Amino acid sequence: MVVIQEPLSALLAILLLLYLMKRWWSHQHYPPGPLSLPIIGSIWRIRFGIGLNERTMIKMSKQYGNVFTLWLGDMPIVLLSGFETVKEGLIDHSEELSGRASSPYVKFIGKGKGITFSNGDLWKQQRRFAVGTMRKLGTGRKSMESQIEVDAQKLVEIFAREKGQPFDPALPIINSVSNVTCIMLFGHRFPLEDENFKELIDAIECTFKFGGSPVHILFELFPWILKRLPGPHMKALESIKIMFSLGKKEILKHKKKLSSREPQDFIDHYLLHIEKEQKNDPTSIFDEDNLAHCISDLFIAGTHISALFMQWAILLLTNRPYIQDKIIKEIDDVLGSSSICYEDHKQLPYTNAVFHEIMRYRYVVLIGTGRQTTKDVNIGSFFIPKETVVIPDMYAILHDPQHWETPEEFNPNHFLDKDGNFVTRKEFLVFGAGARLCLGEHMGRMQYFLFLTSLLKAFHLQLPPGVKELSEEIVIGTLLSPKPHKICAVPRESSSKSIQNAIDSELTN
Ligand code: HEM
Repeated sequence: MVVIQEPLSALLAILLLLYLMKRWWSHQHYPPGPLSLPIIGSIWRIRFGIGLNERTMIKMSKQYGNVFTLWLGDMPIVLLSGFETVKEGLIDHSEELSGRASSPYVKFIGKGKGITFSNGDLWKQQRRFAVGTMRKLGTGRKSMESQIEVDAQKLVEIFAREKGQPFDPALPIINSVSNVTCIMLFGHRFPLEDENFKELIDAIECTFKFGGSPVHILFELFPWILKRLPGPHMKALESIKIMFSLGKKEILKHKKKLSSREPQDFIDHYLLHIEKEQKNDPTSIFDEDNLAHCISDLFIAGTHISALFMQWAILLLTNRPYIQDKIIKEIDDVLGSSSICYEDHKQLPYTNAVFHEIMRYRYVVLIGTGRQTTKDVNIGSFFIPKETVVIPDMYAILHDPQHWETPEEFNPNHFLDKDGNFVTRKEFLVFGAGARLCLGEHMGRMQYFLFLTSLLKAFHLQLPPGVKELSEEIVIGTLLSPKPHKICAVPRESSSKSIQNAIDSELTN
């Protein structure tokens, strides 16, 4: 027995030594960071995700510098902090950082298809097609603007139905914002009361809440175990399935109608493209599976980020009635009673500054979106090997005391010069930067401006009776939401009559 045990222990000791040497050697290729332990890496430093929040990485960058590595088990994640470093990464090395992070969870839900979670040639082709098709469908043009105006007006009518009584604005906002995307994707809207729509929105919210949670971190560390166990990660996966099944149902409906009509929406255009591509190349990467992923990417990206900014805007403005009054005065002084269009934002510097400040102050993406290096790259004095996950800390940039006068205060002057003119800020990277820049930026900006101005022109947003202030606390997930809350939308004198007319005419129709 003794004879057998000794060589076995020696072998185990050698294997352990080799493993530790290999780990040490591989860690030398990455920027420094907190101590990385076997199996868990440096996740102990963020307490396995417990208490992870939008400031966690800011605190760590003070200790480890603007480029540091956090090890998720054996997976290195390089964090970029500070405007100059993030700019160098995302803009100067746009091509090298154009990959999307493919962590076990991202692979599990995204399957490497569509736009947001794909990479390489597949991503380039799907993104190029989506951008071109959105342009054909009118994004960035007057036709899309009229569409948004219709949905903004519908939202005003929904708020008016509450007759100034307290109500939770979240679902009406999500519904109206997503309907702009739905028209583009499916050619139809979802009514607010639609049960399938509510199920879909709950499912997507559940996926976002899962992001950044301790179970999410465990999934990234031990995917092969978690995939076999029940838990919130399975609910998140179910949500994606709900989204896909909606996409697939729509694809089927569109296939039936397409032969008898001109292409009207994104699905029609994509189906025609599949037909054309597959005639020339049977191995084409345009297929129904990728279409379902594109639908899900555009729906989720086009709905949730925009809707969250709108929710924060309404909450922050309800707490600041004097800012609402200044916006209305500016609109009245500049435009009088004429209706508002997106181009008017150039004539409304204060309004524009407030809307930008809302996005800066309550940026909704936890830290930033993950990228992956497509080649070896040097950022600052650090070498980062190919296929490394890189996360640019956008929250830190938007709250950096070196770039913003009062980063922790809501201050529209961040976007105004001393004469009250609007100033664009290069640090305002709310839509990302570089090769993966948001492809719906123009549509998102239009929606945000037209929806908010329409609401503010129609209502005083007020606190419910007896409430002193709405909580501005953040609920953490992949996206940062406000706590559920109620507001009162009290019709402004001048607008109440026209809203009532609109409601009456809708009822008679
Ligand atoms: C206020 C509105 C919006 C904001 C603030 C916003 C912000 C962002 C951000 C931060 C990213 C990640 C960029 C990166 O990886 O660096 C992104 C990506 C994306 N956005 Fe938006 N977005 C908005 C609206 C929209 C709309 C309306 C659509 C389309 C209907 C859209 C479609 C997408 C897509 C498909 C991506 C993934 C791009 C890729 O990976 O190549 N977004 N967006």
